Amino acid sequence: MLILGIESSCDETAAAVVRDGHELLSNVVNSQIDIHSAYGGVIPEIAARSHIEVILPVIEKALVDAHVTWDDIDAMAVTHAPGLIGSLLIGSLAARTLAYIKSKPLYGIHHVEAHTYANFLTSGIKLSIPYPEKQPEFPLLSLTVSGGHSQLVLFEGHGKYSLLGQTRDDAVGEAFDKVAKIIGLPYPGGPSIAKAAEAGDAQKYALPKAKLQNPYDFSFSGLKTAVLRAVQRECGVDHTFPSFKLSERLDDVKRSNFAASFQRIAVETLVDKTVKAYREFQPKSVVIAGGVAANQELRRQLSHRLPTDIAYAPMELCTDNGAMIAALGYYQAKLRSPDNPLTLSVVPSLSMTKTSWQ
Ligand code: KG4
Ligand code: ZN
Repeated sequence: MLILGIESSCDETAAAVVRDGHELLSNVVNSQIDIHSAYGGVIPEIAARSHIEVILPVIEKALVDAHVTWDDIDAMAVTHAPGLIGSLLIGSLAARTLAYIKSKPLYGIHHVEAHTYANFLTSGIKLSIPYPEKQPEFPLLSLTVSGGHSQLVLFEGHGKYSLLGQTRDDAVGEAFDKVAKIIGLPYPGGPSIAKAAEAGDAQKYALPKAKLQNPYDFSFSGLKTAVLRAVQRECGVDHTFPSFKLSERLDDVKRSNFAASFQRIAVETLVDKTVKAYREFQPKSVVIAGGVAANQELRRQLSHRLPTDIAYAPMELCTDNGAMIAALGYYQAKLRSPDNPLTLSVVPSLSMTKTSWQ
């Protein structure tokens, strides 16, 4: 069964073709990073306009790269929640229109749930590292960490899950992005902090870990503020000093030390909670998902501290893509009836506690 997956919830316009939920035939991602980096973050209006320009060529290329035609596609899947409303609208309107005129069943997909399904792809076109040898097994513990979400989810089966904990304020990817801005590293902050951290001393600055009532919840805004205060101290200024001017006072050594110290605590926080959840729920598999799952330090610490083997998805399937949408679309196509292309709505803010398609 061939599924065409379409993703446009934030600043990537993406489409992919996946066979039977595990074989990736094509993966086209048009990133807007260059457009938004001048502003230090995603500008929703610009994101939506850029999606309009490329959505149809991206979908066409996904079919061409997969060496298939519309006739071969059995169903379509599109992100309809959560995300930036303008961005979501472009992908979903394109998908709804195409599903209608090509008479294809259409499945509206929850973006954050789909991130976990990047780990169900086990073969296909060549990517940065080999695919996992086999699909994860249920019960499955998933740490989903992106620019918009930090959460631990226990999947009992496809579409059957419970949210163990989630972010109370900033998502971890957002904290990477904001800290990068404070210390003067380019957007997106995740990759640039990871790179700067390689040369830094991760013990140089003592930074706090948040303590929360639910041990599986996350909070990263205190950590971000602690970095800001430490940078102010290091620069010899107080909190009234304009924060956008702080980074001019840091040299590369200090910048790297801040990057490494922040990354260590952020990653340790994620790993502490994942290890605790593993001990409590004894899942058969553990996966990580979302843009921050591309972080090498996170992979290193998890492999070191989890008492089980963990298979990692290739980097290009961690950040936003259409492949994960198509992979989850396959299981939905097998287990539920399609959505109506005339009425499928977008939902900019939708927690995984409120979506159960099974
Ligand atoms: O999943 P994603 O592509 O988009 C959202 O759904 O949010 O995640 C983007 C986030 C950004 O905050 C980015 O800084 C972060 O993932 N990110 C990383 C790395 N690569 C991307 N964070 C840490 N280390 C990385 N190597
Ligand atoms: Zn995402």
